[in-house]
Amino acid sequence: CGIVGYVGSQVPSSRPLEVALNGLKRLEYRGYDSAGVALVAPGVDRVVSAKKAGKLLNLTAELEAHPLADATASIGHTRWATHGAPNDLNAHPHLADGGRLAVIHNGIVENFAALRVELAADGVTFLSETDTEVAAHLLAKELAEAGDLTEAMRRTAVRLEGTFTLLAVHADRPDTVVGARHDSPLVVGLGEGENFLGSDVAAFIAFTREALELGQDQIATITPDAVSVIDFEGAVVEPRRFTVDWDAEAAEKGGFASFMDKEIHDQPQAVGDTLLGRTDLEGRLVLDDLRIDESVLRTVDKIVVIACGTAAYAGHVAKYAIEHWCRIPVEVELAHEFRYRDPVVNEKTLVVAITQSGETMDTLMAVRHAREQGAKVISIVNTHGSTIPRESDAVLYTHAGPEIAVASTKAFLSQITAAYLLGLYLAQLRGNMFPDEIAKIYDELREMPGKIQEVIDRGARVREIARWMADTSSVLFLGRHVGFPVAMEGALKLKELAYIHAEGFAAGELKHGPIALIEPGQAVFVIVPSPRGRHSLHSKVISNIQEIRARGARTLVLAEDGDEAVLPYADEVFWVPQAPTLLAPLLTVVPLQIFACELATARGLDVDQPRNLAKSVTVE
Ligand code: G6P
Repeated sequence: CGIVGYVGSQVPSSRPLEVALNGLKRLEYRGYDSAGVALVAPGVDRVVSAKKAGKLLNLTAELEAHPLADATASIGHTRWATHGAPNDLNAHPHLADGGRLAVIHNGIVENFAALRVELAADGVTFLSETDTEVAAHLLAKELAEAGDLTEAMRRTAVRLEGTFTLLAVHADRPDTVVGARHDSPLVVGLGEGENFLGSDVAAFIAFTREALELGQDQIATITPDAVSVIDFEGAVVEPRRFTVDWDAEAAEKGGFASFMDKEIHDQPQAVGDTLLGRTDLEGRLVLDDLRIDESVLRTVDKIVVIACGTAAYAGHVAKYAIEHWCRIPVEVELAHEFRYRDPVVNEKTLVVAITQSGETMDTLMAVRHAREQGAKVISIVNTHGSTIPRESDAVLYTHAGPEIAVASTKAFLSQITAAYLLGLYLAQLRGNMFPDEIAKIYDELREMPGKIQEVIDRGARVREIARWMADTSSVLFLGRHVGFPVAMEGALKLKELAYIHAEGFAAGELKHGPIALIEPGQAVFVIVPSPRGRHSLHSKVISNIQEIRARGARTLVLAEDGDEAVLPYADEVFWVPQAPTLLAPLLTVVPLQIFACELATARGLDVDQPRNLAKSVTVE
């Protein structure tokens, strides 16, 4: 979500609204499910606000039809739905304290259900399904006790679990905006006689380039002439000042050269957010969105994953994990093939449709066909309010945030993550694994965002090699087990972005044909499984590298830290942190994404909008 806050001169004017709308326009890339603003002014005893589902245009049309009064401070929000559908009611801001307090929020409050029960017992009635409204009422309650908006925000922040940026304005304090951050972004913009808050500098770049960097777990209070920052213990903090040297366009991309590059860097967060809020107080997995009767999930005898493109490769990874954990046969089928081959699907089949956009026509048609045959459909989707979740029996949302670049990156990682969650949930429900086994894997999953970050941090060498290889005409990718879909995804990225001939193969299939392609100088990526996993799998892939190296291939090897067995056969090794075999795709695909993005850039191509492709293919 995108967040903006503004406070200016104490003579009410139209500027607070203008600043908020300008910020929202620049932040729309962070979400476009709905947008809203709230304003406060001296002598007015309530917040005035407006919010609308859909793109910002809907909000601006609403404001033209029903203009808001002049003000001194504003907050604005553009939403990417996590809790609750993207409708007018669930849009931000959310009001509390009898309409005198307005709150906007970015992130996920994990303990919102428990807090909601507590507040309901105090007599609060809720208008929306969102975790944000819970935060708003909690803030109102703390304000009643503390009497000070900053202190109330501090007390609220320490009670919330999850990740969040919160901004609040109160009718009694028309000269103040308060913001808090916990594992979610917030920056301060410094003006003259006015100050700003934003989820990133794009929010206020039209007005100031002077900014303050906030640390995690800090609270900023801005007035027209002052900014004060405290930590969650209440101690005063001196934030670092910096000058923004990006232009507005670069600011939207977080300073990266392309949205794809930015989205590659967003991946630790995308995976982390997809994992948030999925366990109850006893540590058991709860997938709230799955409104399919548990008895049905217990009796399914087959899972069919349907998807297209990158999402289908996420499905291939899911197959390995779900079959291993749940002992249910899993088929993966391209959605456009599924419907036309008279598939064997019935009431005992669980169909899992994976789609970033939720709009891919091929996938939608396959969903309809599956349901006509009596199968239950769970969709794994990134975009709230899209068609496929509406037509599914249940939906598991990924929380990757909007993906702008046509070639999928962070959506892919979050699809794989959601599929792991589904697999673990089914294993829990069907009793395939002991609770402590499930808890262990879940803990390992929670470590993956940090490891993905490490892979990204090691990206310099991949980029260097990619630039050297800018004129290459063909690259092959080999993998085994879960490394096989990673190889296919690595090849797809290169085809999509760099228009280079690329193929992904199962390494074991090499000797049955593709090895004929190997000639001196042919570049081949090999994804090597962990040597700490099944020994035979690791040693087989090492043999495959030897075979192609002997025929003159240039081997670019992806291996786990410490796996020295690859060294004699690798022209280049890209190391990734150690991880359980089934979870490794979240790491091994990242250097391949970086490689394709950098190589395409070196060829002077537009990586965000490759030729002939569309982000969402809504024709069959
Ligand atoms: C298009 C995009 C691909 C994407 C595929 C599936 O072909 O170019 O990047 O993987 O659609 O899209 P979906 O929205 O269903 O995940």
